Amino acid sequence: MMELQEEQKPVGNGKQLPYRYDGKLKVTGKARYAAEFAPEIQKEAGGKTMLYAYLVQASVPSGEIVAMDTTLADHASGVVKVLTPFNAPKLPIVAPKPPAVRKLSLLQDRNVYYNGEPIAIVVAKTQVEAAQAAALVKVRYKQSAAKLNFDQRLGEARPPKGGNAPAARKPGEAEASWAKATTVLEQTYTTPLQTHNPMEPHATLAAWNGEKLTVYDATQYISGDKQTLAKHFALPLDNVHVIDPYVGGGFGSKGSTWSHVILCAMAAKVVDAPVHLAIERPQMFGPVGGRPRTVQKIKLGADASGKLVAISHDVLLPTSVMEDFLEPAAQQTTMLYQCDSIETSHNMVDMNIGVQTFQRAPGESVGTTALESAMDELAEKLKMDPLKLRLINYAEKDPGEHREWSSKNLRQAYTDAAERFGWSHRNATPGQVRQGNKRIGVGMATATYPANRSAAMATIRLEPNGRVYIGSGTQDLGTGMYTMMAQTVMQEVDVPWQQVDVKLGDSTLPKAPVSGGSQSTASVGPAVKDACAQLLLKLANMAIEDPTSPLHNSGAQDIIFKGGMLQSKQDPTKQEPLSASIARNKGQAIEEKGSGEPSQQAEKALSTHSWGAVFAEVAVDDSTHMVEVRRVVATYDIGILLNKKTGTSQLEGGIVWGIGTALTEETVLDNTFGKIVNNNLAEYHVPVNADAQKIEVSVIDTPDIKFNPQGGRGIGEIGITGIAGAIANAIYNATGKRVRDFPITLDKIMNAA
Ligand code: MOS
Repeated sequence: MMELQEEQKPVGNGKQLPYRYDGKLKVTGKARYAAEFAPEIQKEAGGKTMLYAYLVQASVPSGEIVAMDTTLADHASGVVKVLTPFNAPKLPIVAPKPPAVRKLSLLQDRNVYYNGEPIAIVVAKTQVEAAQAAALVKVRYKQSAAKLNFDQRLGEARPPKGGNAPAARKPGEAEASWAKATTVLEQTYTTPLQTHNPMEPHATLAAWNGEKLTVYDATQYISGDKQTLAKHFALPLDNVHVIDPYVGGGFGSKGSTWSHVILCAMAAKVVDAPVHLAIERPQMFGPVGGRPRTVQKIKLGADASGKLVAISHDVLLPTSVMEDFLEPAAQQTTMLYQCDSIETSHNMVDMNIGVQTFQRAPGESVGTTALESAMDELAEKLKMDPLKLRLINYAEKDPGEHREWSSKNLRQAYTDAAERFGWSHRNATPGQVRQGNKRIGVGMATATYPANRSAAMATIRLEPNGRVYIGSGTQDLGTGMYTMMAQTVMQEVDVPWQQVDVKLGDSTLPKAPVSGGSQSTASVGPAVKDACAQLLLKLANMAIEDPTSPLHNSGAQDIIFKGGMLQSKQDPTKQEPLSASIARNKGQAIEEKGSGEPSQQAEKALSTHSWGAVFAEVAVDDSTHMVEVRRVVATYDIGILLNKKTGTSQLEGGIVWGIGTALTEETVLDNTFGKIVNNNLAEYHVPVNADAQKIEVSVIDTPDIKFNPQGGRGIGEIGITGIAGAIANAIYNATGKRVRDFPITLDKIMNAA
């Protein structure tokens, strides 16, 4: 590993928080989520009592609303207002752009695009009354032929509007490349429609005070919400205040503003009172996004030595008739293995379904599921160890763009995980290892996700009482942003983390990007680090100019933070407590700002990704075909592991969700009525503790300082990649049965050849 110079050391004093900064608040129920701010939102509305809204959803997949009869609902207990396309106020919408906002359903017209689309909103004194009255709204539709049945309409696939598909590589050269292949694997893999199910469903509280709008919203992007709300109501940006201190998971569904947020604010305006709108679990399935189904045709050509000479990966996916959303499932195929001829394509089929969106590792999650299954099948054809096949095709630089990696230690990850797993003991012949009535199998896969970073800002303040305040308009989805901000201050200012007050989740704070694309820590961390440096510079200069300070006339570069002191590096006997700075400032707090952004030059020059090697062991029951994932061993190269607790939790959580992708999760769409039929957690199976047995995660822990001054790459999404492929490959090794249609439920194993 490279040696770092003192000034390049990625993280100050290297201390880590041993547990979550907000852990105690969470386990004691004191951390409040968006729907729980009733007192605050009522105060914003001058003390008016909060009312409750409930969405009315379309019961047909396509057509037009001819009439709505709200008589019963209007007169139901507790009802204050029923808003429909026939009486809702016309919004002065100033075209906000996706992806911060998706195409919305805001009662501005009478069209119906999918079953479950919001078509009215009931406001009542209680949640129960609003829900009851919503059921009393009568709707007459003029139905039109619905676009459903994706699998039978693949022939209608078309390129995405806006052409945001990764470009095909080296067209025209493909034929010559395929001619060099001595072994060709060609298969089609399918993954299902999936639905985000964070613990906290979406929820919004909205209140108006004149032309000022305050919103508590479950969101991954407070400033995106702010902009979208401002544009929908034609307000000056700063008239909108969005707050969300704790988020109970998002996974992409809370990355864009959805219809209910605007509808809640609209209702609050109409009824002139604060309004609460909480999405119920069944309503999570449709109006707030999901991951599209994919049909992925993969063709791999290898020469006799196992080197890939040509690759093609063609993806078909459904998209809502309302808006194109592309799950870039072939994206990783352009860079994961060395090959001179790589072609990818994405095409979409219009469907009467809700608008789709990002879901944890959009693209790579289902893309690696297919690609890593295909690599296993190719290894089998070549009679080669699957790990060896990956090593033979190791990409020393990004083969798509011929750029250097900012850092890549994937080879070490393969070796480390293989050894801890005991891969060398693998029996390559399927169906040979038995334990009682179970067959045991092992499989492996590569994991990968891009390392992203955006501009972010932070404010730091040395308070008169000696505490250090740090604030940034970022979000904590439960991932660890509070912990990371406190830890960065602890490392840079060298004060105990208990002395640090972290504030985030408020749109009046300095701007930070969407908490998506695994970028929050990599984006906000450098801004916090810079804020600490700016504070040091300010305090140092104040001390230098003060004749009574022991640091008087020191050089500004000579002064450091050390154990709650300002100290001279050259002469550590010269020091003063931070309270001296406050006294010097006449007892007033001292504030500075910091910012961080990726260098555009470096961004162009380098390809930045995280890497991992995932190994899985499964047991498949002979009679029931039930699959247990007994053990997962994975090693990731994610730059430096900034915090062991939150970092490994993220990786393990990703693996658990990957077990769902492999074995259980599927949103089932009724092809006649376009209704999602398993819109609840009893029938949409997310893995639970019993499904997650031994998970042994390790990291290479080498800083990637070419990517970011702290040396850490994003960690939130890579864990869900690779794992489903590794499990599919292990099931094949256990049973000799190859299932290419995910999730691999027991009926598919039973019926497989
Ligand atoms: Mo993530 S799918 O970028 O929230």
